[in-house]
Parts: sequence; structure tokens; C-alpha cells
Amino acid sequence: MKDLLPASTQAYARAEWGCDAPQIRVAAVVSALSQALDLSTGQPRGHSAKACILGMRIGQEYGLNTTQLNELYYALLLKDCGCSGNASKTFHALAADDLAAKRDLKVTDWTSTGLESIRYALEHVAVGKPFLERVRVLGRLALTQKAHARDVTRLRCERGATLARLMGLPEGSAAAILDLDEHWDGSGYPENVHGSQINLFSRIMLLAQTLETFATAQSAETAEQVIEKRSRKWFDPDMVKASRSLARRGELWTDINSPSMGEVVLSLDRGEAKLTRGDETLDAICGAFAQIVDAKSPFTFNHSNGVANASVAIARKLNLPRERVIFVRHAALLHDLGKLGVSNTILEKPGKLDEQEWKAMKRHPEDTWLILRSIPHCEELCEVAASHHEKLNGTGYYRNLTAGQLSTEARILAVADIFDALSAKRPYRDSLPLETVFAILRKDSPNIIDGDCVRALEESGISGDQTYRDLQSLQQSLVLNG
Ligand SMILES: [Fe+2]
Ligand SMILES: [Fe+2]
Repeated sequence: MKDLLPASTQAYARAEWGCDAPQIRVAAVVSALSQALDLSTGQPRGHSAKACILGMRIGQEYGLNTTQLNELYYALLLKDCGCSGNASKTFHALAADDLAAKRDLKVTDWTSTGLESIRYALEHVAVGKPFLERVRVLGRLALTQKAHARDVTRLRCERGATLARLMGLPEGSAAAILDLDEHWDGSGYPENVHGSQINLFSRIMLLAQTLETFATAQSAETAEQVIEKRSRKWFDPDMVKASRSLARRGELWTDINSPSMGEVVLSLDRGEAKLTRGDETLDAICGAFAQIVDAKSPFTFNHSNGVANASVAIARKLNLPRERVIFVRHAALLHDLGKLGVSNTILEKPGKLDEQEWKAMKRHPEDTWLILRSIPHCEELCEVAASHHEKLNGTGYYRNLTAGQLSTEARILAVADIFDALSAKRPYRDSLPLETVFAILRKDSPNIIDGDCVRALEESGISGDQTYRDLQSLQQSLVLNG
């Protein structure tokens, strides 16, 4: 990761981010985006950040050095970044809400063969389905439970590690994500490794996430009892000891639920890396989160990247300055972050959504706003990304904004979003021909969507599969074509 931004380029950084601060800490961006991962695991907002605080305190108590603490820091914030990749598989295997199932999995001792596993199955498998279908799904799951758990855990951990590497984070952070679900006694997944064979950071991360989950769902006392009970089963006894020492001194839970919790998270960042103009880490982080969103469902495969491509095509045709083109790309890559909080029972429903489901779906731009607003000083990025379903005549959602309240960049995203939804291939249908897509877009402009943006997109010659895979290829293209 690059270091401080030279003063001469600070103005460019402001323009790219649409924010007042000349420098943005990587930790501030990653901790804000970790809230999207909380959504994807059905956890309350702040779960990853709180687990980060607890894990860093345990790591310090255990005696990790500064380099190790820096690696542990990002691993804790991003431990769930591979989680969306198994959402669809979980939904199909359980025939139920993937988010509720994932949320309760963290507080269930699923390695036991006793009542806890049975209760979990009854509460989350094929809920609301006819009796015979429930029996069929439960029976299938009983036969395949171990293989299924191994599969979805492997998928999640490997994908998480790949995404961490893609973001340019330290290798130690990626390796830690791989072993997150391994248990001290070898009962974990995917490899059943045990004891000190398990990555050191992963042992801290599992303990920290369990402490946080039980403390939030029940109480800190319960959380401490659970980890004592599972010491040597799930957890490294040395880590439990470190946690116990902190708790006895009254230092484990300090400020964990205070309004300054975000600042506490940032204060634990040892690397203090900054994002700079042209820094590929910034683009890679946005690109990786776009992949996290798109992996949630096969119905949205490559959607965020497609919207980014179309947005860039429009922005360039409208002759926006280069730094604004890159700003639009980043807003587009992050626009559907809130969809991580929508259950796959809704995202993959074959028929029409009912009123409740549609209401849940319509919440996703607001969730995008809630996540991005916590990146310090980046209000414009947040506003543009969260406005992608707004319409010029006020019939959009979630704030019913009207033409005067929608910037050029917000209008670009709105057109690009519809374009990609119509022109991209979907598992259940082929892509619509471009003539049909543009006929639909033209019909809705200029009253509902921006006519200049529609024209710009049409004149850009976009084919529907145009891809700027990374910042470098976009910048090269901008240099070549002016
Ligand atoms: Fe959306
Ligand atoms: Fe979208």
C-alpha cells in the first residue's frame, strides 16, 4: 500500500472521492465496508468492527508484534468477505432464509450431535414449507450435513482469502481468513486441522467473533462462559486465557458499545496506510466489494462491474474530467452494497415479490447509504451510490428525490443500473438485444431517467460486455482516448 499523498495531487484525490479530506486511511474505508459483511452474515451492524476490537486486544495480550497486529487487524475486519459466495448454496440446501441461518450458526455448537444441532435444523430448515417437504429437506440434510458444511465453509474461506489478496492486503491476513472455521480439537472445517496447526490469527478471530456474537445477542457474561466451556474444543486455551486476563482487569469490553467505537477501531490500526490518487488499492477494494455483492446470487452475477462499465462509458461520452470518471466508477462498484442484507429467498424468488418482500428489497439503497456514510468526509460518494434507484419524476426509491436533487453522477448510475439489468445475461434468460434495451431506456427518458445519459450510453458504442477489469486498464484507456 502506498504512503502519504503528495500535496500537489491532493486536489485530484478530493475530486475522485468527492470528499473534503485529502487523504483517507485504508482502515477507515475497510472498517466502513466491513458493515456490508455484517449484513451478509445476518449480524447486527458493527459485528466485524467489535470483533476487531476484541481480537486486537487478545492479540496484544498474547504478545503479537506490530507486523502481526497489522495483519490480524485486516483479517478481523474482513473475516467474512467470502461469506456472500455461499449464500445461494446455503439458501438452496436449507430451503430457507440464508441470513437468519448464518446469524444463528455463529451461536450454535453445530459440531455437537446433541440438542443444539437438532434445534438449529428445526428452526432454519425449510421453515414454513409443507410438512412432507420439510421432512424431505431435513432427511437430505442429515445425510449430507458434513459434506455440505465442509463445502460451504471451504467456498467461503477460499473466496475470502482470494478477495483479501485482491485488495492488496498482507498475505498474513488472507491466510488467516482461510482457517477461520477450524477448531482446536479438529472438529472444524474445511480441513479438520487442530491445535497449533491452525493459523495463529484464525484462532484469535474465531474467539473474538464468538465473544462478540454472544455478547451482542445475550450478554458479556454469557460470552465469557461460552468461551470457557468451549476452551480446548473450539478455542486455543492460551487465547481463552488471554481473554480471561483482559476481562479480569476490566479491559476486554471497554468502549465496545460506546458512540466512539469507530474511533477505537481506527486507533488499533498499526499500519496507518493512506489511499492516494491512482492508488490501485482503492480501486481494488471497491472492485473486491463489487465482487462480494455480485457473488450473493447468480441472478446478479457481474452486475456491479457491469454498472461500473456502463457508468464509465456514459461519463466519458459526457466528457467528465478523468478524476470524475474514476469517481463514478467507484460509486457504481459500491452502489448495491445494501443488497448483501437482502435474503436470497427474495433475490432468487422465481415469481413476483409480495408487499413485504418488495419492502425488504427497496431498503437496499438506504443500507448502501448507511454503510458508505461512515467513510469520513465522503458524502458525495455515499449520496451518488445510494441514489441509483431514484427517478427524475420522484417515483424512485428510497427517498423519492426529484430532478433538481439528482446530480449528473447520480443520473449516470441510474441509467447504467437499468442498462446492465436489461442487457446482462441472467441464469434464467438470455440478454435482451441492445436495440430492445435502448428502446426501453429511450421510452423512459427524459421524464424518468436522464436523456443525455441515455444518448451518451447509446453513442458510446457499448456492447454489453465491455470490461475495465481494473483501474490500470481504465487509466490506460483514458490516456489512449483522451
Ligand atoms: Fe440496486
Ligand atoms: Fe444495481
